[in-house]
Amino acid sequence: SQRPYVIDEMISAKAIAARIEALAKDITRVFEGTDKLVVVGLLRGSFVFIADLVREIDLPVEVDFLEASSYGNAMESSREVRILKDLRGEIAGRDVLVVEDIVDTGFTLHHVVNLLKSREPRRLEVCALLDKPARREVPIKATWTGFEIPDEFVVGYGIDFAQRNRNLPFIGKVRFTAPE
Ligand code: PRP
Ligand code: MG
Ligand code: MN
Repeated sequence: SQRPYVIDEMISAKAIAARIEALAKDITRVFEGTDKLVVVGLLRGSFVFIADLVREIDLPVEVDFLEASSYGNAMESSREVRILKDLRGEIAGRDVLVVEDIVDTGFTLHHVVNLLKSREPRRLEVCALLDKPARREVPIKATWTGFEIPDEFVVGYGIDFAQRNRNLPFIGKVRFTAPE
C-alpha cells in the first residue's frame, strides 16, 4: 500500500496558463513560416500541457504522440527508457516541436531526442513545462522551459505519482505525512 501523503500547491493553474501564453508566443515567432509544424507530445505526462500549448500556438500544426516510460510506479528513474508507442507520422524534413512535462535526470528526453534526430527532421526543438536541473544525470536542456523547480517530487497537470494525480489542474509537491 501507498505511504500517506498530502499535496501542496507549487504552481497555480493561473500561473501555468500565463507562462504557456508567453511560451506559445515565442514558439509561434520562431517557427513562423513553417509549412506545418509537427508537435510531438510524450505520453503520458505531457497530455495536459500539449493540449493547452497547441491551442495558444498561432501556426498550422499537426499533433502526434510518442509514448515513453522510465519511472513506472517508482519515485526513482529506472534510467531505461522504453518506447511503448511510436509516432504515427513521418518527420523526415519536417519542423518538429517535442513537448515534455518535466526534465529530471534527462534520460527520457535524451533518448527521445536522439531517436527523433536519427529520422532527420529539418529542425527539432523541445518545450518542457518543468525543469529540475539539480537532478540532471544526462546533459540536455529544452529549447523552452516553463519553470525551473527545486528537487521536489511534483504531481498534477499531467504528472503522476504511481499513476495518480494527473488530473490536478495545478502543479503540486508531494509531502509525506508518515515515516516509511
Ligand atoms: C516522467 C516524466 C518525463 C520523465 C522525466 O515520465 O513524464 O517523461 O519521467 O524524467 P527523466 O528526466 O528522469 O527521464 P514517466 O516515465 O513517469 O512516464 P509517464 O509520462 O507516462 O508518467
Ligand atoms: Mg513522461
Ligand atoms: Mn510517470
